[in-house]
Amino acid sequence: MDYYKIKGGKKLSGEVRISGAKNAALPIIVASLLADGETVLKNVPDLMDIRTIIKVIEYLGAETEFDSEKNILKIKVNNIKNGEMPYELVKTMRASVYVMGPLLARLGEADVSLPGGCAIGERPVDIHLAGFEAMGVKIDLDHGNIKARAAKLTPANFTMRQISVGATANLMMGSVLTQGKTVLENCALEPDIVDLGLFLNKMGAKINGLGTERITIEGVKKLTPVTYSIMPDRIEAGTFLLAGAITKGDVKLTNCVPEHIESLIDLLTESGYLIESGKDSVRITPGKEQKGFMVKTLPYPGFPTDLQAPLMSLATTIPGISVIIETIFENRYTHVGELRRLGADISIEGNVAVIKGGKKLTSAPIMMSDLRAGASLVVAALAAKGFTEIRRIYHSDRGYEKLTDKLSALGADIKRVKGGTF
Ligand code: EPZ
Repeated sequence: MDYYKIKGGKKLSGEVRISGAKNAALPIIVASLLADGETVLKNVPDLMDIRTIIKVIEYLGAETEFDSEKNILKIKVNNIKNGEMPYELVKTMRASVYVMGPLLARLGEADVSLPGGCAIGERPVDIHLAGFEAMGVKIDLDHGNIKARAAKLTPANFTMRQISVGATANLMMGSVLTQGKTVLENCALEPDIVDLGLFLNKMGAKINGLGTERITIEGVKKLTPVTYSIMPDRIEAGTFLLAGAITKGDVKLTNCVPEHIESLIDLLTESGYLIESGKDSVRITPGKEQKGFMVKTLPYPGFPTDLQAPLMSLATTIPGISVIIETIFENRYTHVGELRRLGADISIEGNVAVIKGGKKLTSAPIMMSDLRAGASLVVAALAAKGFTEIRRIYHSDRGYEKLTDKLSALGADIKRVKGGTF
């Protein structure tokens, strides 16, 4: 297995172009199953998760052509079919549950393996299933498989018991072809949901209230394939800002949407960094002095759980005490033990992390346990004295496109080394 070898201490400097958003691309790729013909998606990041979802839609009958250099994905759909998705595909990526929406909308049936727990928590899909039931779908759970059937989907008024990005996306896709008006309440406001909705509307759907808690969907008879460009990845953008911050560098993000990372920009500004936002760019420089902060992860527009881990790496180095409270997932502190190996002083009680900052991190062999935990280790290693080796980097391959190239271009000393002993 490949690993990263990072020599910390280099100040990052220069510009980095942000890739297309993984968490917008995943449902949008699946939503292309809603229309026969050829969909063309631009700004699709070349990531392991994207390659997996491509396999998933191919399994259901789509033909695809991915130009990973140009980031263009062409998807041809003609006669999609339901079929029990191999557990292998669902196991590697929970987003494969997204196929339920389009399959139910078009065929009135969907068979998907029930995604199990994962490294960051149990992650049930009960809200997705309750929403489909409200639309008249009969759900049977059998030997770890979801069997969903509906002679005809009916419009529903459904309130999600908790805000869920995945359920909002799935239920939107499920209802676009249902005649009548579906009302979804307590929806996710995430930009990824808005991007999916804009894509569906471009195809001819009638979705209102995107980016608000109440989304209404007037069913249409048919959708038409379109060309669409995926929005920039706000989590990748945030990770590069944090990498700039921890190395006291001068980093400018280009092709990003500053508004999507406002919660991080506000926090970094309060902590003493200087941030200049342009129309589609953000630049960070160190400012005079930094101080600790207190933050709670929340659904958008609150501070994103996906940036909690890399933010914690920064907190270990800036002076003062920082407090981070994780409210979205129950097991999202798996990076803490690894950060301690680099010399961080972090104590955890329940979902509260208290970080005594101002530490000079030093290298140690460390290991990624999930995608964003992995990002936090890379961010920390960029500031750690000596050579840090990071294993299990297949986790960061899931969500960061050309990570070594982008960091090297900013002046980081990072190598991807082939092979390894564990
Ligand atoms: C999405 O996951 C993202 N994944 C996650 O990004 C992100 O961390 C998360 O939203 C929160 O922002 C994709 O978009 C592919 P949720 P999702 O449904 O949709 C509970 C990354 O690193 N819940 O909003 O699975 C759930 O357990 C990934 O890129 C239920 O209880 O998240 C969690 O506590 C990781 N029942 C909370 O809701 C349900 O049916 C929010 O989950 C659904 C969710």
